[in-house]
Amino acid sequence: MDEKEIKVIEILKKYNQNHIINFLNKLNSEDKERLENQILKIDFEEIIRLYENAKKNIDFRDKKIEPIEYLDKEKLPNEIKNRYIEIGKKTIKEGKYAFATMAGGQGTRLGCNGPKGKFFLKTDIGDKSLFEILSDTLKIENEKYGVVIPWYIMTSKENNDETIAFFKDNEYFGYPKEDIKFFEQNELPLIDANGKLIIGKDNLIKEASDGNGGIYESMLKNGILDDMNKRNVEWLFIGGVDNVLLKMVDPLLLGIAIEKNNLIAAKSLVKNSPEERVGVFCKCNGVAKVIEYTELSKEMCELRDENGELVYGESHIMCNLFNIKALEKIAKEKLPYHSAFKKADYLDENKKIIVAKEPNAYKFEAFIFDAFESFKDMSILRVKREEEFAPVKNAEGVDSPKTAKILYENFWKK
Ligand code: UD1
Repeated sequence: MDEKEIKVIEILKKYNQNHIINFLNKLNSEDKERLENQILKIDFEEIIRLYENAKKNIDFRDKKIEPIEYLDKEKLPNEIKNRYIEIGKKTIKEGKYAFATMAGGQGTRLGCNGPKGKFFLKTDIGDKSLFEILSDTLKIENEKYGVVIPWYIMTSKENNDETIAFFKDNEYFGYPKEDIKFFEQNELPLIDANGKLIIGKDNLIKEASDGNGGIYESMLKNGILDDMNKRNVEWLFIGGVDNVLLKMVDPLLLGIAIEKNNLIAAKSLVKNSPEERVGVFCKCNGVAKVIEYTELSKEMCELRDENGELVYGESHIMCNLFNIKALEKIAKEKLPYHSAFKKADYLDENKKIIVAKEPNAYKFEAFIFDAFESFKDMSILRVKREEEFAPVKNAEGVDSPKTAKILYENFWKK
């Protein structure tokens, strides 16, 4: 046994992963080496800690939770609104503004294989992939401000090559190629209900993307923050890949953040029902926080004020703006991970693939908005759903291609 193997076995024994020792012995030397290298890179302390915390319920009872304050775009007096817009426009024209798309997800819920951004939305205005829709909107903004806005695209290990190939095959949708930069997000191992790591069909410990909150660390690690600094970019708008009405360049939001001296800002809109699957803004111990729909209690979901409005009804729509100073700070901090119990196929000890019919493994994800809590204050701008939010998430029903098509057509025909 060589030194490396001794070390690997020691680690696996220490963390109760003896089944992987047996598995290693069944591999050819090349696969064995790959798996050993992977094991040496895994932070077992962290994974075991995450596993131990996974079953604990999220409880906000010891925290002071209140509704959040926001500015309503509709109710802002014109004079003030125009002042903010002018401030924002100036910064955009000076080339200090960039855009990032989080495209690490797969189109699984949409029923399409591969990167979600490749999903084609058929509308009366034309059939376009989600990536092309984003590119076209951004090109209109470039023209408006006489600049080329740098576009950073976060991919995952799983979809990176396919995403880049899709852009190449489509000649970057006419966007200047040198102003698009792709970067990969990190992965974390999955772990089963008994605290055992599972093996995927590539004979490696099965890993999955570490959630959209992985964007900060990945931007630092992959030189995106350096690129922003080199280009004198001061502000970055981060949006999801799936909102076909995403308004990624908004001088009003930017002007508000600058004028109020806030390093972060976000857009919100009124939740359309207690059940809508969106995170909601609130104030937690005095600072802004988003509680994800999967973690919001029924009581909080349904709580209404004296006017019948939802008390926690300011939805997070994945339209978030950051100053580079904020990004540099967050990138060095560790965000918490949230866990979800999901179906994950795996190889058993005889290298036979087992297709999971029921959830069998914990997946850990960081959420982009957990970084908000590191800041004393942030600006929140309430906007209109029909102007800014048409997500394509499910194959049918709510937030589906059908609902997005209608919103998209209505907006552009106007
Ligand atoms: C997300 C938000 C939710 C918000 C809703 C609005 C989070 C955790 N949840 O929910 O608060 O109300 O959008 O539409 O932010 N992604 C990656 N890498 C990952 C995971 C996701 O890049 O590891 C990207 C996806 O490609 C997508 C975006 O993040 O662009 C949203 O992720 P998804 O997991 O689909 O979150 P939702 O459930 O839609």
